[in-house]
Formats: sequence, structure tokens, C-alpha cells
Amino acid sequence: MARPVDVPHSSRAFFYIALVAAIAALGGLLFGYDTGVISGAILFIDRDFGLGDAMQGLVVSFVTLGALVGAFAAGALADVLGRRTTNIVAGVLFVLASLVCSLTPGVAVLVAGRFLVGVAIGLTSVAAPMYIAEVAPAAIRGRLVSVFQLAITVGILAAYVVDEALASAGAWRWMLGLAVVPGGLLALGMIPLPDSPRWLLKRGRAAEARTVLVQIRAGGDVEDELSEIHTDLERQGEGSWVDLLGPAIRPALVVGVGLAIFQQITGINAVIYYAPQIFQSAGLSSDAVALAATMGVGLINVAATFIAIGLVDRVGRRPLLAAGVLGMSVSLAVLGLAFEETPAGQAGASSMLDVATVFCLAVYIVFFAFSLGPVVWLMISEIYPYRNRAQAVGLSTAANWGANFVVSLTFPIMRTDLGSAATFWIYAALGLVTLAFVWLRVPETKGRTLEEIERSWAAARLPPAGRGEG
Ligand code: BGC
Repeated sequence: MARPVDVPHSSRAFFYIALVAAIAALGGLLFGYDTGVISGAILFIDRDFGLGDAMQGLVVSFVTLGALVGAFAAGALADVLGRRTTNIVAGVLFVLASLVCSLTPGVAVLVAGRFLVGVAIGLTSVAAPMYIAEVAPAAIRGRLVSVFQLAITVGILAAYVVDEALASAGAWRWMLGLAVVPGGLLALGMIPLPDSPRWLLKRGRAAEARTVLVQIRAGGDVEDELSEIHTDLERQGEGSWVDLLGPAIRPALVVGVGLAIFQQITGINAVIYYAPQIFQSAGLSSDAVALAATMGVGLINVAATFIAIGLVDRVGRRPLLAAGVLGMSVSLAVLGLAFEETPAGQAGASSMLDVATVFCLAVYIVFFAFSLGPVVWLMISEIYPYRNRAQAVGLSTAANWGANFVVSLTFPIMRTDLGSAATFWIYAALGLVTLAFVWLRVPETKGRTLEEIERSWAAARLPPAGRGEG
């Protein structure tokens, strides 16, 4: 069997591949920036336009809806235009849409602009991790795709900082407009980068594919890798959306869509989007303290992602997922207990609820940041057969945005109707369901080439047998 070229054969090749990953990961930066920025901007938009509750909801949530549409669009575009060009389109669209939001004369244009920002995020959340996965050598693919998640977390933190810096001036147009920076960097940075060799080969551009592989594996022998991709592509025809309904791709689709949904319904964006409100209800009534705690969440999110970058190619995907989800569930359960034990109105006065909340949320974020955060984007981009990869990644990513939409919409309602304790317990219970899902369904993909992963599905060798392998 053809052996993969495992690690870059020179520091120049490593540097080049890391640069390629970093530029593609700018897609994550704009994803994260926009996730974070609206919470600070919305107060001032409301002041200027007098939005009211329903309109506020539209301005905030239209991004998620746009991302859903963008993810499906990327499922088609990434095959037709290529992964690289889809990222460029996303960057350009992001710049234009951010300008529309920033310069908007009124609320209708703002809502339209927010939708387009979402489409751009949807495009890149499909095309960026997939591009990185396809150019990365198998041995460091996990690390490189995790850089995409790192960029998301840096984007969220940058948005918190920008919001805070511009809050006293109420400069929401600048808050939204500054998003042109990651958008522009993504578009410009991707222009000189090569197309994915797999995509080039699929389009019959074999000579270019070889040139690119030689470039990104500098010094390594690319013949084995080329022939492995080639043999694999030859066995396959053109993929279509209809294939996604067939039995061949179903086991992989269950894993990808399942992970995408579990990443959201275990509550991450209840924390990321609503951290200040949670801290305030736990008794951190001073704005400055609630803000410091929120910044802390952002910082911990960035820092803990490095754990995944360090471990994902060494210990593998499954152990990280299992440990992370378990830790998330336990911290949510304890948080629920703390809220349950604190009589209403006593938060902050005689209870330790504020300390417990800060501690539990910090622990929860650490466990998310090295598991469901990076590993879900990684696995979505590596488990699907090439023939249907773009469509399947598009569908999984759309499911992720759909679940994100539902959770961020229902969290405030659940807290009011069921109380904080029950709400956190529900997320904790869903964490345990996720753990069972990981244990029973998710294969280990560490160290395998994309072609090996593909063949393992076909031979039905990967599922639970993947445990402990690698
Ligand atoms: C998730 C986002 C989340 C972010 C937090 C990403 O992996 O997809 O929904 O806001 O992590 O870091």
C-alpha cells in the first residue's frame, strides 16, 4: 500500500505548510470576531435605531441563518471553484458585507448586511478547515486544522477587546466595520496560495497537483502520495447531493452531523454569547467585574486550545473528545447544583455562587476548548470520502449553525421558564449523551491519510474498532 508522506521533510516545508494553514485559518478569525462583536454593539445599535426586542433578535440571529445558507452554498462552490477560491470569495464577501453593516442608513440594510456576513462565515467555515485538511500531511493534520479553532477563539477575544475599547464612544459602526480586516486578510492572503492537490487532480490538472505537492512536501517523495490520491479518485465518479441519502456515506454522515450538533447542544454558545448575563445572575453585579470575568472566559478559551494543538496528533481524537465532554458535563452539573443551592435573591450576598460560577465556567471552557471545539471541525473535514466531501462538510456545518441558532434562541427562555439549575443540568445530560455517541460511533483518525480513512469506512473497519488504534 502506498505510504503517506508523514511529516514535512524540511523546516522550509513545515514553515510553508504552517503559513498555508495560518492564512486559511483567518476564516476562523472572522467567524470568531463576528460571533463576539455583536453582543457589545447591539446596545448602541438599539440606542440609535430603537430596535425593540424582535428587531434586536433579527440583527443578532440573521448571521446564523446566513451561515446556514453559506454552508450549503460552499458544499457546491468548493467543488466547482475549488477550496482556495471559495475562501477568497468568502473574504471578499465578508469585506463588502461588513462595510454594508458599518455604513448602513437604517435597520433593514443592517439586517441584510448581517445576513451576508453570515453567508461569508458559512462559506469559510466549510472551505477553510477542508482546505487545511487536504494540504496537511497526515501526521500533523490534527494540529493544523486545530489552528482554525484557535483563530475562532482569538477572533472572539479580539471582539471583546474591541467592544470594550469602543464602548465609551458607543462606536458600533467601527465595531462592525473593523471586521473588514480579517476578511481582507483572508482574501488577499489566499491569492498566492496553491489549490488543494486533491482538488487539482480531480479536475484533471495532474501536473499542477504534482507541482503543489512538491512545494508543500519539499524534499519528500510525493510519488506515493500522488498515486494514492489518484487511485482513490479513479474509483470514484462525480459526487452529488443525492448520494448523501445512500448507505455508502451514511455511517460517516452520522458521525459528522452528530458531532456538529453535539458541539452546540452541550451549551457552548449559551456561555460564549451570554457570559455577562450569567455572571450577573450569579451575583457579580458590578459591570467591571462581569466584564473582567467575560474577558477571562475569552482568554481561557484561547489558551486551552493549545492543549488540543499539542495533543491531538499524539493521543488522538477520541481520547480528547471523551475527556473533554466528561469534564464539560461535570462542571455543568456542579454549576447547576450551585444555582439550585442558592435561594433566589441571595446570589452574591451570602452565597458562594459567584465564585462557583466563575470556577465552573472556566473549567467548562477549558474542557470544551481542547475537545469539542477543535476536534469537531477537524473530524468534519477529514472523515468524508472525497467524492462527496464538499457536500457532506456543507451539510454538517449547516447542521452546526442550525443547532447554534436553536441553542442561542432557547437559552434565555429556558432560564426564565425552567431556572438556571435545570438549564445547566439539561446541557450536562446532553454531554453524557455526547460521551456515549463518541464512545460508540466516532472512529480514531489520528495519523491516517484521508484516503486511508476513506477506505476504512468502505471496509467498515473504522467504527468502534478504531478505539485504541492508531
Ligand atoms: C464553535 C462555535 C463557538 C466557538 C467557541 C467553535 O468551535 O463552532 O459555535 O462559539 O467554538 O470557541
